[in-house]
Amino acid sequence: MKVMAIVLAAGQGKRMKSKLYKVLHPVCGKPMVSHVLDVVKEAKAERSVVIVGYGAEMVKSYLGDGAEYVLQEQQLGTGHAVRQAEALLGSEDGTTIVICGDTPLVQASTISAMLELHASSGAAGTVLTAAFADPTGYGRVIRSADGTVQRIVEQKDCSPEEAAVNEINTGTYCFDNKKLFAALANVTSNNAQGEFYLTDVIGLFRESGESVQGYCTADLAEAIGVNDRVALAEAERFMRERINRNHLLGGVTLIDASSTYIEAGVQIGADTVIYPGTVLRGSTVIGEDCVIGPQADITDSTIGNGASIKYSVVAESVVGDESTVGPYANLRPGSKLGKGCKIGDFVELKNATLDDGSKVSHLSYVGDAKVGKDVNIGCGAITVNYDGYNKFVTEIGDNAFVGSNVNLIAPVKIGDGAYVVAGSTVTHDVPAGDLAIARERQVNKAGYADKIRGRAKAKKEKKQQ
Ligand code: UD1
Ligand code: CA
Repeated sequence: MKVMAIVLAAGQGKRMKSKLYKVLHPVCGKPMVSHVLDVVKEAKAERSVVIVGYGAEMVKSYLGDGAEYVLQEQQLGTGHAVRQAEALLGSEDGTTIVICGDTPLVQASTISAMLELHASSGAAGTVLTAAFADPTGYGRVIRSADGTVQRIVEQKDCSPEEAAVNEINTGTYCFDNKKLFAALANVTSNNAQGEFYLTDVIGLFRESGESVQGYCTADLAEAIGVNDRVALAEAERFMRERINRNHLLGGVTLIDASSTYIEAGVQIGADTVIYPGTVLRGSTVIGEDCVIGPQADITDSTIGNGASIKYSVVAESVVGDESTVGPYANLRPGSKLGKGCKIGDFVELKNATLDDGSKVSHLSYVGDAKVGKDVNIGCGAITVNYDGYNKFVTEIGDNAFVGSNVNLIAPVKIGDGAYVVAGSTVTHDVPAGDLAIARERQVNKAGYADKIRGRAKAKKEKKQQ
């Protein structure tokens, strides 16, 4: 049986009180509608049609060519929204999943279970439901004595008896495709909100002698529909718990899962230990046997095996195997560390490559630099890469030694094995193996300390008179 999907994502989401369209709000770093689209694909939908309206261009550009799109020009309700897909899907035979773009926690395994019940029961439609202690705000699922679904009543249209029903409509369904579009033609907007409700299809099926099943999920998180930021925060928490649990089951130690924030796209190797306050974002990939955190904030970066990152920020960078970063380091985009490098406290790197075994241990800025193997960059040494208009490159060869408080005025090259003594301001290239000294020679004036104190004291006394 061919499976298709319609994702409803045209609404503005007024209750979010946001400039960003509702379905683009991220949950654990990924827009809600993107979670939903991935899930229907995982549930083997062969065609996915996203109904777009508010923010159509943004939604399309985010989801790309992984889906087909239909514009719903006016948001006249969920039934009206699904009808917009008729031109694309109306002639297909098969089963169509309908899912809301604001229910990011629905899982593929649950959709598959719903599809199985649907197929085996021969129903025209099957609704994914959940039993909520507080069902306020959701459509209520009214069942017949035989357990099949009779109709769905929206909160605003409920009688007091209907409002007391705990089983809610999650907004995910599957339908016989042709029967769905046939029934939609008869849906009216005769209700409290004056909208064309998709849920009215169920009552219409019943009237024409079709049956409708309800598949009730035990995982209440799956049923969260995000209409406001309270629900968004709840969805974030449940998604975070799910992601963290998967990493735990995959062999990652989280010292305190409740204070570890891992976005949906992150991968982590086994036996890595993550300490509290850590935030791992985007497409970050972390190897095995690493120690991450406390308080590491890592975005779109690749961390090798056995690396350690403490109290540091790393963005769009690569940290090689067994390298250590922090405490209090800032690896800005384009930083690339080889194997066994050391980046210590208050070091900032930007667009800088360090080959294996190189060290920048304290209080340095290394930007727009190519640094070879086993280089030591001393405390307070910096690359002077910017003249207010242009950026220049610093190159440092293998085994070079850059002393403390050195300024390397780029563009400049320090050759292999060269030695730059502390306090130098280097403006010319240093050939391989040479020693560079670029500072004033020291002069000691015998006994002068007391003399200068005497002068200073006299000046102060004069002022006080
Ligand atoms: C809907 C269901 C309700 C269910 C709840 C689950 C209906 C009538 N009600 O209510 O039974 O309990 O979801 O979360 O279906 N949308 C469009 N075009 C429109 C209207 C909505 O694309 O014209 C999209 C929205 O962007 C959203 C989804 O459909 O992603 C659901 O719409 P929303 O207004 O949030 O419906 P609910 O009131 O939550
Ligand atoms: Ca909703």
